[in-house]
Amino acid sequence: MLKKILKVTGIVLGVIVVIIAGYYTKVYISTERRMHKKYEIALEALPLSRDSAVLARGAHLVRTKACTECHGQDLGGKVFVDDPALGFLIASNLTNGKGGRPADFGADDWTLALKHGLRRDRTPLIFMPAHEFAVMSEQDLSAIASFCEQLPDVDREFEPSSLGPLARVLADLDKLPLLPAEMIDHSKKLVKEVKAEISADYGKYLSTSCQGCHRENMKGGEPVAPGFPEVADISSSGHPGKWTDEQFINTLRTGTTPEGKTLKPDEMPWTMTKEFSDLELKALHLYLKSI
Ligand code: HEC
Ligand code: HEC
Repeated sequence: MLKKILKVTGIVLGVIVVIIAGYYTKVYISTERRMHKKYEIALEALPLSRDSAVLARGAHLVRTKACTECHGQDLGGKVFVDDPALGFLIASNLTNGKGGRPADFGADDWTLALKHGLRRDRTPLIFMPAHEFAVMSEQDLSAIASFCEQLPDVDREFEPSSLGPLARVLADLDKLPLLPAEMIDHSKKLVKEVKAEISADYGKYLSTSCQGCHRENMKGGEPVAPGFPEVADISSSGHPGKWTDEQFINTLRTGTTPEGKTLKPDEMPWTMTKEFSDLELKALHLYLKSI
């Protein structure tokens, strides 16, 4: 009797293992295919400049667009994910130092990365949120590329990145923005310039930095990843709708809300939002109150 039960249990377990292995093989093959796809695109290189006003704008943008959050304060690269299930991922060393970009990395390559989410071989970059950058103005993207082009060398080398099984499964279920290049309209032309002023339009332009978590309607919702809190509603129906500009600015610079809540920078990145200027935060608040 016991022998028979053990035998049946063995068969059931065996079948389950085969099903899981089959499913994972399918996921593995399809994510590999997506990661190695070469994108045929018409490239219009961003103009690079050494003008000091352009470089200052670029320096401001690399902080407010979170480049430094992922690539490190000196943009010399940082371990972005190190988890057995998700994988080991490096946000690249963007300088010309050891472990950084090749010496001939130029305007074409910056454009591929920022506007298209692609490497120079035209395969997609992993987790590099280019879909948020592809909607910026040509002037702003050029300023970012120009600033990064002249960064002082940082020598920092890493082991190569590798993707874990959970990241592949979540990407296969479309629960993880693994390859932002897939979300970009590659033929869309950039607008030349967006006027920096306290207007809802400019606020909307800036709010692309918030969309990844607060969603396009800014109403938040489900946590962005397991273990993270619910994302707050920051449209007119949420708390920021009731705050004064001063309270809004103070929250995004200190991480403490008027209701007394403390926001953790790894969940709500106020270390990034604190870098916005008063004008930018007022424009953002105006836009959030209008929706
Ligand atoms: C959410 C984290 C994150 C943010 C924010 C981010 N990056 Fe990245 N970036 C990455 C990762 C991860 C990679 C490496 C991707 C890979 O190897 O597939 C990368 C790669 C790159 C590359 C390498 C391209 C190549 O051809 O090797 C460039 C250039 C780059 N990022 C520039 C930027 C700039 C400039 C910003 C800000 C405007 C920025 N990144 C913001 C995560 C990020
Ligand atoms: C990486 C994800 C992420 C990004 C990007 C992000 N937020 Fe948040 N934000 C959150 C989460 C999660 C919460 C809720 C935190 C909590 O409940 O502790 C939050 C909370 C807030 C709050 C507090 C709301 C309240 O009711 O107290 C404000 C205000 C806010 N975010 C504004 C912004 C703005 C403006 C941007 C873009 C410039 C932005 N956030 C970008 C994840 C994010």
